[in-house]
Amino acid sequence: MHFAAAAAALLTLLPAALSHGIITQPPSRAIGPAITAACGQPITTAIQQDNTSYVEQLTKLAASSSSGYNAAACNLYLCKGLQFADNSANTQTWTAGQVVPVKIWLRIPHEGIANVSIVDTKSNTVVGEMLKVWTKGYAPGRTEGDVPKEQKEFSVTVPAGLEEKCAVGGDCVLQWWWLGTAAKQTYESCVDFKIAKPAARAMAFTS
Ligand SMILES: *[C@@H]1O[C@H](CO)[C@@H](O)[C@H](O)[C@H]1NC(C)=O
Ligand SMILES: *[C@@H]1O[C@H](CO)[C@@H](O)[C@H](O)[C@H]1NC(C)=O
Repeated sequence: MHFAAAAAALLTLLPAALSHGIITQPPSRAIGPAITAACGQPITTAIQQDNTSYVEQLTKLAASSSSGYNAAACNLYLCKGLQFADNSANTQTWTAGQVVPVKIWLRIPHEGIANVSIVDTKSNTVVGEMLKVWTKGYAPGRTEGDVPKEQKEFSVTVPAGLEEKCAVGGDCVLQWWWLGTAAKQTYESCVDFKIAKPAARAMAFTS
């Protein structure tokens, strides 16, 4: 009992120097068979153990493992290697102008910069304007309670003009990106969505 308690206490202390976070609302990409196929079992296991972990930890695992890591398919700097195929059931359907509430679980803060944007997954490039930007002072303090609420709970407005580019789930993601500047740790968490075309016919009937 004493040993177990001490070990548990030690485990909770170990990650204290690190920063950790993930989107909890809307549902964000999680592990499944597709990430194991693309990135290898060690990366899946690491995310399973802590789904708020950072990319640089995973790039180290990728470099040191010979167990099925495929750099191009895994793409660790997009959604931390997490794959659409494992999250397709959670694809959100949005329309232009819709206000989407976002919640972040900032398990352990580490001050830095952050942003939220829509990313074209084929090219891993940001589409249009950033939806949220924190150029400094993101996730300060030592515990989750130190982080200002508006950094953990905010909303973004779905931009217009994505009806073609983001018509199909998996082509675009809403990505939250955070860099702990002192820790040099990158966090990414992605929501899958598609944009519904305006219901032109229905509008014509009701107008
Ligand atoms: C992340 O892990 C927590 C448990 O630590 C779990 O409750 C949550 O559903 C997970 N989220 C995702 C997106 O995997
Ligand atoms: C926003 O996030 C990207 C990663 O998607 C990062 O490379 C970039 O420096 C950030 N830009 C701003 C303005 O915060």
